[in-house]
Amino acid sequence: MAHLIGCVNTSHVPAIGKAIATHQEQAAYWKPFFDGFPPIREWLRRERPDAVVVIYNDHGLNFFLDKMPTFALGAAERYVNADEGWGIPTLAPFAGELDLSWHLIERLIDADFDLTTCQEMRVDHAFTLPMKLLWPDGDAPPAVPLCINTVQFPLPSARRVWALGRALGEAIRAWDSDKRVLVLGSGGLSHQLDGQRAGFINKDFDQRFMRSLVEQPDWVTRYSIHELVELSGTQGVELLMWLAARATLGDGARLVHQNYHIPISNTASGAMALACA
Ligand code: DHB
Ligand code: FE
Repeated sequence: MAHLIGCVNTSHVPAIGKAIATHQEQAAYWKPFFDGFPPIREWLRRERPDAVVVIYNDHGLNFFLDKMPTFALGAAERYVNADEGWGIPTLAPFAGELDLSWHLIERLIDADFDLTTCQEMRVDHAFTLPMKLLWPDGDAPPAVPLCINTVQFPLPSARRVWALGRALGEAIRAWDSDKRVLVLGSGGLSHQLDGQRAGFINKDFDQRFMRSLVEQPDWVTRYSIHELVELSGTQGVELLMWLAARATLGDGARLVHQNYHIPISNTASGAMALACA
């Protein structure tokens, strides 16, 4: 059976792509953000994942407001990145882990999650930037993208996302393969890009949330989506990706490394690696 190594959670902000393309990693503005990743990459070098399940929210590149699945899973041989208008270089297509995709689709639908299955899927900055941060040389393992809608209401509850993550973890572990699998959660932490609270950041809440992923991982499921928007901002609800990724690990997890820095663009940026206990 496949081995689930752990999860890595990170924020995604398009400006990161520009900073990488223009070699700004050591600039004063960017250093506190990029410094969060070498220890995580070091851990991944030791753990050698063969496949990665990337949980993220599409921002309008693959799904637009006319068709918005709550949960969508990719089953393609490759995933193409395309220009979203942010002015960041598009990356080469990412290889898909097709066998794992179909296994997860079968298991999750059998576990009563009504997934949309996508045999073609374009991946946006929320997928590509974490992959680039973890595998800067472009040698990321084959991937399975899993999208959770946090763009157009109604959104799935934190409770539902937690349950999806639990089922996903069980499904990964039940994959008939000797491969080693990493789960990557991309989104958050607190930020709001629009409206009267544009620029909103909630450091206390972010840090409480990060702590909870080690100490009491379903803590945030006590909040409704509207409470989460109030606490973390309209786009801060992307933290649901972190929750789903953490839920795959089961009850116990060991903190490998974490980083938190305010702000990157309009976002409180976090990175966190957790190993299965
Ligand atoms: C920003 C943050 C996001 O999550 C995103 O998808 C786009 C932009 C930002 O802070 O600039
Ligand atoms: Fe986003």
